[in-house]
Amino acid sequence: MRLDRFLTQQTKQSNKQVRQQIDAGEVLVDGDVTIEWNQRITRFSEIVLAGERLQENTAEYWMLHKPIGVVSDTKHPHHKTVLDCLDIPNKALLHVAGRLDLNTSGLVLLTNNGAWSKAITSASSQMPKVYEVTLDQPIPPETEAVFAQGIYFVYEDITTLPAEIERLSDCQARLTLTEGRYHQVKRMFGHLGLRVTALHRSQIGAVKLPSEIAVGQYRKLCDYEVAALAGNANSRSDR
Ligand code: URA
Repeated sequence: MRLDRFLTQQTKQSNKQVRQQIDAGEVLVDGDVTIEWNQRITRFSEIVLAGERLQENTAEYWMLHKPIGVVSDTKHPHHKTVLDCLDIPNKALLHVAGRLDLNTSGLVLLTNNGAWSKAITSASSQMPKVYEVTLDQPIPPETEAVFAQGIYFVYEDITTLPAEIERLSDCQARLTLTEGRYHQVKRMFGHLGLRVTALHRSQIGAVKLPSEIAVGQYRKLCDYEVAALAGNANSRSDR
């Protein structure tokens, strides 16, 4: 929504009066004075007019170190869910920004801001995701070339985007993907005849899972992490 329209609705003043207040520097959006009457705001923007807070920023952004055996869903009939891992108020309003398989551990982001999570997970964002992978056999020499070229997935009728692989040992690698197809890591190695025996997501965009966040632990994202993920996603997260 446009800032001037929000203010006219909230204050019942005319659009002219509202724009004068904006011009006079009386309006703060998320703590900053704005003179842009056509600035886009959302239900998560904090709006202050002449010292009075008209709208609070209620957006929440969390990171969780997902344990193996926990589903990336908000409800499940048999398994513990990522929401069950959190002991926070209003957790029922959160959703997952990019799922992991039941037997994958690592970084999961949760938010109540649908535009933000969409900016991270949409195909167009090409948000890099980093996985530590353990395989059942040594990684063959052609892997780099095959992953760089892309692998055809019949079911989706797509070829995977170039993926970067860094070898950590004979049977371990760090893989960076810029998309998130169903079971993508397992299917890519499966294409080469390898089985993934352990999978862990260590990073999404610029945000790394910190070593002090143990399995099952969680914390709020810092403002710069929220902004970095939104910025990385090629599209504005706050609309
Ligand atoms: N690729 C997979 O195969 N599984 C995951 O959980 C994430 C990426």
